[in-house]
Amino acid sequence: MLKGKHIILGITGSIAAYKSAVLCRLLVSAGAEVKVVMTPLAKQFITPLTMATVSQHPILVDFFNPENGEWNSHVKLGEWADLYLIAPATANTMAKMATGVADNLLLTTYLSARCPVAVAPAMDLDMYAHVATQRNIEQLRRDGVHIVEPGSGFLASGLVGKGRMAEPEHIVEAVSAILEEKKKSLEGKHFLVTAGATIEPIDPVRFISNHSSGKMGYAVAEALSERGAEVTLVSGRTSLATPKGVKRVDVLSAEDMWQECVARFPECDGAVMCAAVADYTPSVVAEQKLKKGDSDMTLELRRTKDIAATLGANKGKRVLVGFAMETEHEQQNAVGKLERKNFDFIVLNSLRTEGAGFRGDTNVVTLIDREHSQPLPLMSKHEVAEKIVDKIEEFL
Ligand code: CTP
Repeated sequence: MLKGKHIILGITGSIAAYKSAVLCRLLVSAGAEVKVVMTPLAKQFITPLTMATVSQHPILVDFFNPENGEWNSHVKLGEWADLYLIAPATANTMAKMATGVADNLLLTTYLSARCPVAVAPAMDLDMYAHVATQRNIEQLRRDGVHIVEPGSGFLASGLVGKGRMAEPEHIVEAVSAILEEKKKSLEGKHFLVTAGATIEPIDPVRFISNHSSGKMGYAVAEALSERGAEVTLVSGRTSLATPKGVKRVDVLSAEDMWQECVARFPECDGAVMCAAVADYTPSVVAEQKLKKGDSDMTLELRRTKDIAATLGANKGKRVLVGFAMETEHEQQNAVGKLERKNFDFIVLNSLRTEGAGFRGDTNVVTLIDREHSQPLPLMSKHEVAEKIVDKIEEFL
């Protein structure tokens, strides 16, 4: 996959830069041609001599060579590359990338690059978790940058947590996957995806909802679309941006989501039910804001319609995928749902597993069909989405 590929390796000022030499060596051994761009600070962490030796090319740091005035053209470099990989990527560099700051050669090359761009963040756990860093990473993702998620473990600060740059072997795998031509294997197919949390109004100011972020469903919609499928995303409440090429229909309540899905399913080749749909809704929605009294209050709820079960009963040859989020008797409950709702397969999340669940960027799932149960390791939600779409292709 990497043979003959042109890769720019950008290195920024992080202690993880010591791993960049191994990373570069792995890329070169796999047959890639690698040119290294460093920020001025990166030179404090790993020497240009080391990187020039392993990459077999002079290192680029400045806009021009101070000795002879020769111009290091970021435009030409950007055109040359099949992929631009920034590893390690500091919080500072990602913040600049997210806003388009261009104050060094590594950043101007980013703005000039027409190729896919990947970053492997590396920093202390608190810097990584900071809302500003997360906002910048989300912005980069929206801009189409691939994020090679950092791992958890001992950090240079002495603390233990998430922020450690992914291992060079893992980064090489991620780069290979990006360079692998995305097969447009689902061209001509149409999928319905539900995502996010529904909102069940109690009165004009209050509602019942849940913690779903919508991230898993949005990742599935994106993965389907990237393989050439037409995707309609029926979305409950989330704060996520619509993935490129996806048609999004916003809904509020379980009833609204049911209406949209039932109307659209007949034209589809399949549906993936990722939404966290309320099972109960207030029997009566008060027209005016409910005022508190001295005594306790009881709210009467009625069952909502089961969207997945309705689609399952009218499935025909379409592929139908469901999700199960369980806290006990996981396998047994998931298989029960698979049967009851007539899913082809179900994606089981156990809330007992660390790294799985609602809000995070990772998930730990088991894909269960009528014959197999396939547990997957901890992955980003984007990687889980790819696995789900691989399995959908098997059923088509
Ligand atoms: N689902 C749906 N419509 C509903 C309820 C659920 O489409 N009204 C879908 C979800 O999107 C998911 C699967 O069905 O794919 C989850 O089913 P289920 O477990 O019944 O939802 P829970 O609310 O978690 O049920 P339970 O309380 O039984 O665990």
